[in-house]
Amino acid sequence: MITFNINGKEVQGEDGWTILEVARWHGIDIPTLCHHEALEPYGACRLCVVEVDDGRRSRVVISCMYPIKPGIKVQTDSPRVANVRRWIVQLLLDESPGAPKIQELAKTFGVTPSRFKKEGVDFACHLCGLCVRTCQEVAGVQALTFSNRGLRKEIATPYHQRSADCIRCGTCLYVCPTGAMEQLFPQLSAP
Ligand code: SF4
Ligand code: FES
Repeated sequence: MITFNINGKEVQGEDGWTILEVARWHGIDIPTLCHHEALEPYGACRLCVVEVDDGRRSRVVISCMYPIKPGIKVQTDSPRVANVRRWIVQLLLDESPGAPKIQELAKTFGVTPSRFKKEGVDFACHLCGLCVRTCQEVAGVQALTFSNRGLRKEIATPYHQRSADCIRCGTCLYVCPTGAMEQLFPQLSAP
């Protein structure tokens, strides 16, 4: 077992666990968007940031991918963390103001739409990858994939064709935190 500190409290976790896993095990809340306990961590949304002091320096890291180490001091709600998190929630809200999960996050962190909010878009895809990973890791098929890179990166079916691999299980629709999946592939939610 590895012993370290979260918010001034001594905690323990098994070697290989992440800060997020240990925090949740001990009932310490860290917000997430792209994380799902049934899936491999992906590190896309950055919402799970925490501040880690390893005795040499203090850094803001993403807790869903940061492996625990003996003696580190973790703060889940320091001023630095709160600042970064608020910016992330602001970006999410400006792009997906209609998504209930994003609205809930905004309410929790006291964020309101900014003047940069996208007009006419209520449910944007944030490329969290939950749909692609669920399709591959849970359903065991490859009906969805990431296509393109950089600013043109998007969720697509292979070769932009209706995928013959799709078993219409609907898990991609279920895990999507914004409802973008339903808009991208309305045929999946059709009866
Ligand atoms: S469609 Fe939804 S689940 Fe898929 S990457 Fe976009 S936001 Fe995430
Ligand atoms: S939950 Fe950690 S980066 Fe998304």
